[in-house]
Amino acid sequence: MADLSIQYLGMKLKNPVIIGSSGMTGTIAGVKHAAESGASAVVLKSIFEEQILHEMDNYLTDTGKDTDNSFQKGYQSVLSEREYDYEEAYSYLKDHAKNLTLGKYLSFVEEAKKSVDIPVIASINCTTAYDWHYFARKIEEAGADALELNVYVLPSNTMKKSAENEKVYFDIVEAVLKQVSIPVSLKIGYYFSGLATTAIDLSKTGIGSLVLFNRPFHPDIDINTLEVNSKYLLSDPSEYSHVLRWIALLSGRVACPLVATTGVHTAETAIKQLLAGATSVEVVSAMYKHGYPVISEIIAGIEHWMDAKGYGSIEDFRGKMNQQSISNPAEFERVQFMRLYSEIV
Ligand SMILES: Cc1cc2nc3c(=O)[nH]c(=O)nc-3n(C[C@H](O)[C@H](O)[C@H](O)COP(=O)(O)O)c2cc1C
Repeated sequence: MADLSIQYLGMKLKNPVIIGSSGMTGTIAGVKHAAESGASAVVLKSIFEEQILHEMDNYLTDTGKDTDNSFQKGYQSVLSEREYDYEEAYSYLKDHAKNLTLGKYLSFVEEAKKSVDIPVIASINCTTAYDWHYFARKIEEAGADALELNVYVLPSNTMKKSAENEKVYFDIVEAVLKQVSIPVSLKIGYYFSGLATTAIDLSKTGIGSLVLFNRPFHPDIDINTLEVNSKYLLSDPSEYSHVLRWIALLSGRVACPLVATTGVHTAETAIKQLLAGATSVEVVSAMYKHGYPVISEIIAGIEHWMDAKGYGSIEDFRGKMNQQSISNPAEFERVQFMRLYSEIV
């Protein structure tokens, strides 16, 4: 029988199927269901940088430490110049403000860890490296096995050069790695001027893995109400292909493991991502659509396929179809459909 175990973030996981961060991993009941489903690890629902900074702001104002209201004037300009006692503030939030978001998140991490025997990966959504990163250490102290940072900078500011947008990712990683000793994974989007080179550079920063890709909010317009909304909260199974391309292109070139997320709804897709070079996959939308049993179906499907193909371990086939291993590497770089278009009349 095939051995599905993998090494990931310094841990041995029993299989490559991880439950990704979402509302379904935002409660203890959800975390327990995730473990019961057979998944090898669970990424908790994220806490947002804004939530952390907001409560820090309130604390500092309430305790009179933000004497000139500098927090309210904008984090960017002031935080580096101020000598706030962040340790004290974060300890306060943990020990005396259990009803606030930060205290609740730390208690959630603690309880999640006690409730399941699979690794628990906490998660922070962030877009800047301002002083929220002290909170990462609190998450480690709460018992998280690892931390996933979900960083999504939409390069929409016309006054900012690409390099400035990209630097944010490096600043965040550097700041967080100084705070924690648990492994840190980095979940990114794909809006980079040089995605391949940035991903390779990020992989060398000391992170434990790169998770490709977070799925952005897909804006839409309601032509009746003239409002902006989004119909596409959950991914479609066809969305995996974009991720597959980049996993295949980066596999063998990056200095850390790659994780595929977005559009993994079936065992077949999971296998494709592993063949392209992913170490593991993170699943969310398929669970919303089909419930937790889809996880055991994906795991069983991988095992069945490995047995049928005679693969004894994931490493026997992982990356076998990455760009460096296939006979026509140009296939993964193809972006135009000249031949296909010309066949359609
Ligand atoms: C309802 C919902 C809530 C989500 N919440 C988070 C979150 O808190 N943090 C995060 O990093 N990603 C979050 N995500 C993104 C997922 O973790 C995942 O990256 C994305 O849905 C793509 O994977 P999928 O195709 O399997 O859904 C959320 C997704 C959904 C659908």
